[in-house]
Amino acid sequence: MASVSALRAGAALCLAIAAPACGLQASAEGEDASLELQDWPWSRRSAPGRGGERAPPGTGRVLLSTMTFPEDNLPLDVTVAHQVRMVSKYPDTIQHVIVDNRPPWMEPVNRQETILQSMSKSKVSTVRRVDYSVYDSPKYLQKFFETGNETDSCKTLEDAHDMSDISGQHMSSNTHGMFNFLEACLTAEAAVDLCVFLDPDIVVYRKDKGMIEMAREVFATQPTAIALNPPTMCSAFDEAGSDTCKTRRPGMLSQRYLIINRQRLTSVLPLKVPHEEFNVNFEHLFGDSLRRVNSGGQRMICNGAFAIHPFSARWAHCRNKKENLNIERHSRLVAQSVKKETSGDYHSFDMTMVEGLKEMISRVEAGKLAKPQESGEPAELQSVSNMCEDMCVDQNRIAQGLAW
Ligand SMILES: *[C@@H]1O[C@H](CO)[C@@H](O)[C@H](O)[C@H]1NC(C)=O
Repeated sequence: MASVSALRAGAALCLAIAAPACGLQASAEGEDASLELQDWPWSRRSAPGRGGERAPPGTGRVLLSTMTFPEDNLPLDVTVAHQVRMVSKYPDTIQHVIVDNRPPWMEPVNRQETILQSMSKSKVSTVRRVDYSVYDSPKYLQKFFETGNETDSCKTLEDAHDMSDISGQHMSSNTHGMFNFLEACLTAEAAVDLCVFLDPDIVVYRKDKGMIEMAREVFATQPTAIALNPPTMCSAFDEAGSDTCKTRRPGMLSQRYLIINRQRLTSVLPLKVPHEEFNVNFEHLFGDSLRRVNSGGQRMICNGAFAIHPFSARWAHCRNKKENLNIERHSRLVAQSVKKETSGDYHSFDMTMVEGLKEMISRVEAGKLAKPQESGEPAELQSVSNMCEDMCVDQNRIAQGLAW
């Protein structure tokens, strides 16, 4: 598996891909923060040092993974470089894996094929094509879930129904992709002790220590924890919080961001799911079955690091919900604010969107973040929603130099 140590400042990736991808590294550093920003101490921090720190001897390695579908909306070279820099203060311990999911009922072409090839060739990531020949194999399913019915396979989930109208094929192909990630985790080299999954659009922040280092501390003090969700922005910036992480049992373990203790997961597989309940998406299958194993899934509550999802029309209750400032619109707004609107494409992506995305990421890495406030605060200050897991994007804050 490829080491991504060279990716710390995005430099290797820049060389590997194309000139327009460069410039990601902390352009925010030299800029003057506006006066408003100075009220909020986190916004004045310069971006983390390039190159990162070397991990102390004996530190485990991390398998960090994301999944791509043919129609993804963000270029993975940009988002993966960001995630690698921010999940850990020791990026040289990270091995990156892309789960390349091309369900047979979709066009077999991934729109960012050239990016995938380039990341693979430059050993920034290992690209794993999801194997659909085992999609209807009960044996393959039984590596991960035991339903007690010998005919169940991942394909069985095509008949599943989600309350929020996700199609059965969506759930089955997503679950099959997550199995590919778990398989990569199980078969990783012995030095890997943590396996982390992040959706490609997850934005990550660390002031110093990353969520990986924090997760190691949680696993050390909680012997029954198997999978963790990272801290949210609200706990990351909780001034009453302590340096030691706490945890709580989440209402539902989220699949967007998962930090898994490899050895403990291995010891509980296959997870038990009653056949009658084998009709929901991976998130529920995994979270519900872990819950039966000693509350194996926990939410981290820690200071100084967080993960967050962009605005979500589905889950967020933001004051300006109607504007639907999803990550693409959000990125274009950021590009406008720094006058980086441009024509043309970056691979199959709109160049203005990509420029804005890079600027937004730079702002996050430099800590140009609004104080997290949910509803209940004056509406115009609301910056997060969905229990601090989704962004509420605001045009005025972007104009002031903040990330969202
Ligand atoms: C297994 O599941 C299938 C499909 O739901 C069902 O038709 C079959 O009766 C089940 N077999 C057993 C042994 O429960």
